[in-house]
Amino acid sequence: MTEPSPLEPPPHLTSAQFRELGKRAVDWVADYLERVERLPVRSPDAPGAGLARLPESPPDDGLGGASDPLGAWDAVFDDLTRVIEPGLTHWQHPSFFGYFPCNASGPAVVGELLSAGLGVQGMLWATSPIATELETRVLDWCAEMFGLPSAFRSSGAGGGVIQGTASEATLCALTAARARAVESDAAQDRCVAYASDQAHSSVLKAAMIAGLARGPDDRERVRLIGTDESGRMRVKMLREAIEADRARGLAPTFVCATMGTTGTGAFDSIDEIAGVVGECAPGAWLHVDGAWAGCALVCPEHRAIAKGIERADSFCTNPHKWLLTNFDCDLFWVRDRAALTRALAITPEYLRNAPTDAGAVVDYRDWQVPLGRRFRALKLWLVIRHYGVEGLRAHIRQHVEWASWIEGRVRADGRFALAAPRALGLVCFRLVAGDAATRTLMDRINASGRAFFSHATAVGRDGEPTMFIRMAIGATRTEFEHVRHAWELVVRTAQEVLG
Ligand SMILES: Cc1ncc(COP(=O)(O)O)c(C=O)c1O
Repeated sequence: MTEPSPLEPPPHLTSAQFRELGKRAVDWVADYLERVERLPVRSPDAPGAGLARLPESPPDDGLGGASDPLGAWDAVFDDLTRVIEPGLTHWQHPSFFGYFPCNASGPAVVGELLSAGLGVQGMLWATSPIATELETRVLDWCAEMFGLPSAFRSSGAGGGVIQGTASEATLCALTAARARAVESDAAQDRCVAYASDQAHSSVLKAAMIAGLARGPDDRERVRLIGTDESGRMRVKMLREAIEADRARGLAPTFVCATMGTTGTGAFDSIDEIAGVVGECAPGAWLHVDGAWAGCALVCPEHRAIAKGIERADSFCTNPHKWLLTNFDCDLFWVRDRAALTRALAITPEYLRNAPTDAGAVVDYRDWQVPLGRRFRALKLWLVIRHYGVEGLRAHIRQHVEWASWIEGRVRADGRFALAAPRALGLVCFRLVAGDAATRTLMDRINASGRAFFSHATAVGRDGEPTMFIRMAIGATRTEFEHVRHAWELVVRTAQEVLG
């Protein structure tokens, strides 16, 4: 056999070049975060504007092949400002109050960089033992930090795992619920899922993926239970729906309680829902979706929202929404990890290894949809080590305090009304003048670039949906002055809108 003839190797960065560019990139991010406050929060880009700034084809000869690669990379840093920045809505802007903020922090970004640099793929314990064991330990820390039941800890039958998103956590919970129902003799096509009509759309999407719904409007085996004027599930209606389904020979399989709905931040009564599940559908899986509000459990004074969680089968919350950890980071706990892995485990020959075969280790690929997994525990570990539990509590507490201040301003001004009771750091308000005025108010503020809000609707007493503005206080760089200025902007703009 002849040896292969030498080919030109690809132009990898040398160690010295990588150090130089890495430092420049960190400097760029630090500069960006210093000046982000002066940028318009929402991207001014029209559809296609970003595409128009980008070449249609990739370069044949890359920057790495230039005689001076570092100098050639100047073009990349120029493009960050020229091509990328105009198309950014600045989620790290201190006046970003839309959706639920996605808060990054210095320690989390450093963790992300380290994770990328290590480049490990932690699908199995054996593919990087510490990626698994750090995750197990950090999830146990979080369970302690949130006051979760001991059943969710890895020392018992349960345990926690990092998913990319709450949507994936819900899908895994529903998949485990369906598998458990089928194990106990329910026919797969008789499984039914329940959530409130205010639950996140990811519950419906999970039902679509898991084969319980043919599309978002298919209600044959998905029940969206009505809610009260605060947006909480009417538990009596849940009971009636479960009983009716059982009478028709269907199998109530999965119930999702929401801890902090997306629209108004309403808290379903987990305790009462668990009571109904226990009485009327004892084998059904109770999942608690606390994607945003669950982060507030770090503060003991907010734990009333979790009453009854010790009876839930699973719970998820997103540090990427309110705990200083950049996207993506959803924490998902189950009380019976075997029930989850029975639904999701599959071991082809090429993944077999001695510790797995011996049942001596956790393989997190069996707790999630994809096989591969990033080393996400690293960033969460650094966040918790940097801020400490007290630092994380301070983060939540100041936002709740400022939201309460906004709530007071809304109540004190007759032109405005609260659309729902304030929930932690979320205030939902509207102009009494009606939907058109409220929408104009929000559109003008968002177009000004000086603050950013999002909206939702709720069904009013007349049965008609009413639009409202959501102000979710939770961005990392937000200070009280930004909250005050945002409210002054709301009032000034409302004056213009109302004439
Ligand atoms: C209650 C709730 N559940 C789930 C989600 C979806 O979160 P993710 O993007 O992590 O899937 C959201 C998003 O806002 C949410 O508010």
